[in-house]
Amino acid sequence: MKKLNSVELRKAYLDFFKERGHAVIPSSSLIPENDPTVLFTTAGMHPLVPYLLGEKHPSGTRLTDVQICVRTGDIDEVGDASHCTFFEMLGNWSLGDYFKKESVTWSFQFLTQVLEIPVDKLAVSVFGGDEDCPRDEETASIWKGLGLPADRVFYLPKKNNWWGPAGTTGPCGPDTEIFLDTGKPACGPDCSPACDCGKYLEIWNNVFMEYYKDAEGKLSPMQRKNVDTGMGLERTLVTLNGLDSVYETDLFDYAVAELEKLSGKKYGENKDDTVAMRIIADHTRTATFLLGDVKPVSPSNVDQGYVLRRLIRRAMRYCRQLGVGFEALPALAELYVGKYGEVYPNIARAKDRILDELAAEKDKFAKTIEQGLKEFDKILTHIPVGTFPGKTAFRLYDTFGFPIEMTEELARERGYQLDRAGYDKAFHEHQEKSKAGAEQKFKGGLADGGEATARLHSATHLLNYALKKVLNDESIMQRGSNITPERLRFDFSFARPLTEEEIKAVEDVVNGEIAKAAPVECREMTVDEARAEGAVGVFGDRYGEIVKVYTIGGSKEICGGPHAANTGELGKFRIVKEQSSSAGVRRIKAVLE
Ligand code: ALA
Repeated sequence: MKKLNSVELRKAYLDFFKERGHAVIPSSSLIPENDPTVLFTTAGMHPLVPYLLGEKHPSGTRLTDVQICVRTGDIDEVGDASHCTFFEMLGNWSLGDYFKKESVTWSFQFLTQVLEIPVDKLAVSVFGGDEDCPRDEETASIWKGLGLPADRVFYLPKKNNWWGPAGTTGPCGPDTEIFLDTGKPACGPDCSPACDCGKYLEIWNNVFMEYYKDAEGKLSPMQRKNVDTGMGLERTLVTLNGLDSVYETDLFDYAVAELEKLSGKKYGENKDDTVAMRIIADHTRTATFLLGDVKPVSPSNVDQGYVLRRLIRRAMRYCRQLGVGFEALPALAELYVGKYGEVYPNIARAKDRILDELAAEKDKFAKTIEQGLKEFDKILTHIPVGTFPGKTAFRLYDTFGFPIEMTEELARERGYQLDRAGYDKAFHEHQEKSKAGAEQKFKGGLADGGEATARLHSATHLLNYALKKVLNDESIMQRGSNITPERLRFDFSFARPLTEEEIKAVEDVVNGEIAKAAPVECREMTVDEARAEGAVGVFGDRYGEIVKVYTIGGSKEICGGPHAANTGELGKFRIVKEQSSSAGVRRIKAVLE
């Protein structure tokens, strides 16, 4: 077998398919373009879904690439020899061009001729057939024709030999998977690539995409037949180089060496330390790619940002366990930027962002992790082994920022089962409460929900914005608001009366924004995100709280609404009175005419 490193393997693969008429296309973002059913790009075919469904690809009908992917479904298995949350997938595609014969033949040639894997080390599986799709005799006979003995061709059911869709809907089909026989003895008479005894290692998957799965789960045949293949870069490197785990490949070995240096411990010597090193190395690499993506992700409490936060915080917990400082995270990230920056230039370009955001998230959690873990230990002394209460897990989240999955893992390690339903209940109750609180506060300020008050409410946001701007004072704070259908009343912190010129200038700024006739925008986000976007308003200090942020002209505020749909509806804004409200607080009354 050829002992290639990652650079050589990527090149060998792309060159091989280029020579067979494939256009080499760049990797896409880790964040899927048009698939709301899944958070990350999970396979090479994912960004190609529109083309697999029939749209014309500008580069033709034969494509090849190396796609970066994130799969967090197996996050609990990270720490073993082969599971990674981030990986690179080598792939080649036929968009209605070649089908089974060429696909299987080229895979066979690449493996046996380019990578020089002996034929007797290969085993394959093909789809065994069911009510949706017949047994794939065609593929089986192609393999046999290439020299694979019949007892190396396994027929397996849908559970094993069907791939896709990437999210919950999209193209999918039967596949043929290619395995390397490690030479270990069979685990029994039924040993096959389907069992996880470790005899067979999957390295490549060729999918014959002939079906479309809709939202109801119904399969329908597609007009055009495509081929989608995927080969895991990390795993193939392990195989070719006769290694025991992905952490020994050139993609990770320097990171592991850094962790050895920082901890003074040896990789492979003690199981717990080895697992900790693997988890830190894997999670930090994934975090580096998410932070440096062409569509950059920031740690937050929702969606991709939450996964990123979880990865960083989990890695930090394992830093403690391994006995290295949290500085290990930025240190590794810097090494990854160096290693991957040439292959993925966006990672090199985003170096500062990656290191800054990682440091910020690290510092944030560093403040609470110790206390939280202490609290966790204390809690365990009070509850009998069995169930870990969901409400308590919510408290750890709310007070110390412990992602629920982390508490679940900590609890499991001590023999407890976390009451996830109880956690969800506590979480929702909390959200309801803060929502009710916000609505209550809002009611105090707004007399009714009619259109006139909605317009004046929007004008209030513009006034708040204009005051800061005209008085050139970002520290001006809203101190009260009361709106009737006739007028608005707005109290704000400011030490002296406004001059006539200032009042006029404030009116001009507001009317200027009205004249732009900009649509009023409302988006939901976490408090952290709102703060990061520079929104003004009352920031709770609660993790996970979702708020509405209204953008009205130049103003951006956390607010419950309602508002006008467009600033153009507001008419003409006029301040009718400016007076003192109390010490250090001014009051403005204004109307829309
Ligand atoms: N899309 C196929 C996979 O991910 C190739 O295995």
